[in-house]
Amino acid sequence: MNQPDETPTLDGTFPRKGVGNPPGADASANEVLRALFERCSIRRYTDDSVAPEVLDVIVDVGLHAANAGGCQAPIVLVSQDEAVNRRLGSISNALYDEGYYPVLEAQPSTACEVGITNGFYDAPVVITVFTPKGWSYAPFDASLCAANMMLAAWSFGLGSCFVSRAARTFATDFGCQVKRDAGIPDDYEAQLHLVVGHPESTERDAKPLYPNRVAWI
Ligand SMILES: Cc1cc2nc3c(=O)[nH]c(=O)nc-3n(C[C@H](O)[C@H](O)[C@H](O)COP(=O)(O)O)c2cc1C
Repeated sequence: MNQPDETPTLDGTFPRKGVGNPPGADASANEVLRALFERCSIRRYTDDSVAPEVLDVIVDVGLHAANAGGCQAPIVLVSQDEAVNRRLGSISNALYDEGYYPVLEAQPSTACEVGITNGFYDAPVVITVFTPKGWSYAPFDASLCAANMMLAAWSFGLGSCFVSRAARTFATDFGCQVKRDAGIPDDYEAQLHLVVGHPESTERDAKPLYPNRVAWI
């Protein structure tokens, strides 16, 4: 699953009918491009906390992301509560139900059969992006917010990882309690988590692009 030279899909039916990919770009042309090309998901963290002024910038960058209709629908919960993060991370991990596969050797994930118990990878910061219930653009708004924060984190030498299952994680009794205690309105739902921290390792798997992902007219 998701391995180059194998059917690169979860269900085996993903057509890639483009005619080629662009030639490799010069990743060092400027700092933004460097960050875009070099960023990778980090799942091995040290115990060090993230400096508050740095975290402020990361979150601020997230709030400045492009958003549907200019409505600024996403709101975020930033948790540095170790006990809460560990418990929600273990709930998130247990909710994973998409099968195991051995990708991501350098930064193994919940999807790898390596005995991970915390779906937040013991990161010191867990940011959850919420959007109003019924908001048509919820996944797009939340994802762009997360993408901005990933790159901001990377620019500070921090690592991050997008984690799914947030709606189900926050629908549990404990998730509801955390949400209530944090003052997140009832009519908002969790879309995704972004875990952030200092990389214990920036080792990464090679990321060859699948072929034929672009069509040109
Ligand atoms: C929509 C989405 C959901 C993801 N869910 C998870 C997740 O639940 N757990 C995890 O460890 N990584 C998750 N990831 C991270 C991907 O595994 C990662 O981005 C992908 O393997 C590409 O690697 P890279 O980020 O290093 O480029 C998710 C990423 C996206 C965009």
